[in-house]
Amino acid sequence: MFRQLALLVLASSFVTVSPAAPAQAVDAEGHRWWQHAVFYELYPRSFADSNNDGIGDLNGITSKLDYLKQLGVDAIWITPCFPSPQVDFGYDVSDYQNIDPMYGTLKDFDHMQSEANQRGIKIILDFVINHTSDKHPWFMDSRSSRKATHRDWYVWRDGKGGQPPNNWESTFGHSAWELDPKTKQYYYHYFYIQQPDLNWHNPKVQSAMFGVTRWWYKRGVAGFRLDAVDTLFEDPDLRDNPVLPGKNKYGDPNMEDKYDKKLPEVHDVLRELRKVADESGAVLIGEAYTNDFDELKQYYGEHNNELQMPMDFMFMKVNKVSAPEFRKQIEGVNSSGGWPVYVLGNHDNVRSYVRYGDGQHDDAIAKLLAGLYLTLRGTPIMYYGEEIGMTNNDPKRKEEVKDPIGITGWPEEKGRDGERTPMQWNESLNAGFTTAKPWLPVPDSYKTHNVATELQEPDSVLQFYKHLLALRHQNQALLDGEYIALNNDDPNVLSYLRKYKGQAVLVVLNMSGQAQKASFDLGAQGFPAASAKTLLTTASSEAPTDLSQLSLEPFGVYIAEISSAAKQ
Ligand code: GLC
Repeated sequence: MFRQLALLVLASSFVTVSPAAPAQAVDAEGHRWWQHAVFYELYPRSFADSNNDGIGDLNGITSKLDYLKQLGVDAIWITPCFPSPQVDFGYDVSDYQNIDPMYGTLKDFDHMQSEANQRGIKIILDFVINHTSDKHPWFMDSRSSRKATHRDWYVWRDGKGGQPPNNWESTFGHSAWELDPKTKQYYYHYFYIQQPDLNWHNPKVQSAMFGVTRWWYKRGVAGFRLDAVDTLFEDPDLRDNPVLPGKNKYGDPNMEDKYDKKLPEVHDVLRELRKVADESGAVLIGEAYTNDFDELKQYYGEHNNELQMPMDFMFMKVNKVSAPEFRKQIEGVNSSGGWPVYVLGNHDNVRSYVRYGDGQHDDAIAKLLAGLYLTLRGTPIMYYGEEIGMTNNDPKRKEEVKDPIGITGWPEEKGRDGERTPMQWNESLNAGFTTAKPWLPVPDSYKTHNVATELQEPDSVLQFYKHLLALRHQNQALLDGEYIALNNDDPNVLSYLRKYKGQAVLVVLNMSGQAQKASFDLGAQGFPAASAKTLLTTASSEAPTDLSQLSLEPFGVYIAEISSAAKQ
């Protein structure tokens, strides 16, 4: 059915962000550009390979901007593309103000950005602030002598009786302390050994890092995704973390991250980064693994002066397709008072297609989840390939693993290679990503799940995303409307209104594998005797429009415009 409605949706004009518009501009609701934008995370190693060396690059991204534009993407977040030894595939930065030659040059970056701007697409870079690479000149100097200029740019401590300074563990396995033989002290690394933590107590570190963001803003980037903000500070007294029962997947004792994570000083840094961002009207997205909504609230800042867009992984961590569970998350995020951010997947987590798929209705579930997070009040961040139903391709043997945590933790932890495989462009060799051997193998599903094939199929996941994104861009209620939960006790069907002034869109999502019925009386919401005009549905037969008796197919999506004679 969404075949027929497609024309209607596509014919409507896109509301796009004009590149010339000042970034601080607001709409009638006081919303800034990023509140209307659809973000798209892309992993540059895996998006498009223009020089056929098996690894993606910036010119590859440039060549796909038209695709992204037509899909309905307004901003792309590119994971780190700076010079790096690539131990953590770019999250170990050795120069913050350049491009890794494997991805291109600063000139290629400028070209990509200007091409993106011409299409109204903004560029967001990834700022790795907790640590540098051990090959960064700051660390090379720091480790050269106890008296080195950059010594206190990192966290150096004496050991205790031939042992590390305390019991802290790296989140990537084993002790978080590494003895440096030259100066006979330990340095601290929350992540890999090759990722020494910066000492954020040092004002010189702070000013150097703030300067980096300014430098990129001047070059035109519209914001940053801030990596691992939770881990910026550690307890200066180095108190041992409480040990918990059992062992983790690396064979280390389980531990509560009490003294090495989420220290209050993090918020001082976020406020400073925000001040710098505000000079350029930039947006800050934060990787913040919050445990609850109070924690989430803190990331927005007491005066909305920290992260504009803290990423809420609680939504992504809902572990099954469940109306009550998603309902609870949406309510929680809304209660935090900040602008919601919705994410279903990223480069560190198993793809949503696998996490939520049941092996039988996988494409339907992929559409259902799109129908959810692309119609909520808030900003969605897509992950490349999600729009075509890309699956994980996990390594089968330890020898194949590229991500070091998959080697340390094998077989319990297979690493993150599976969710980082090349984008599937067409059904030719290597899914059209490269003519060389790709750095990671594409899964067999590329034969059916690829851009070219899905563009030909009216009922594909990609077509559904396109229609939905087009609708989202042109429908005022979906852009600005408040979220009103409906039928709160329904265990299977998640429904809500997006209401803006006298307009409303009804979203009905069958989160079960069985056909369901739903019925709505929207009088209390200002729509007595409401009638529905279908905007988009996955229904294979005639679109349902009777609001007192709506039939939904398993995992079906129904989105309709609501009106009534007595509209308010
Ligand atoms: C973040 C990144 C992850 C990286 C880690 C260390 O969690 O998303 O990919 O390994 O930080 O930089």
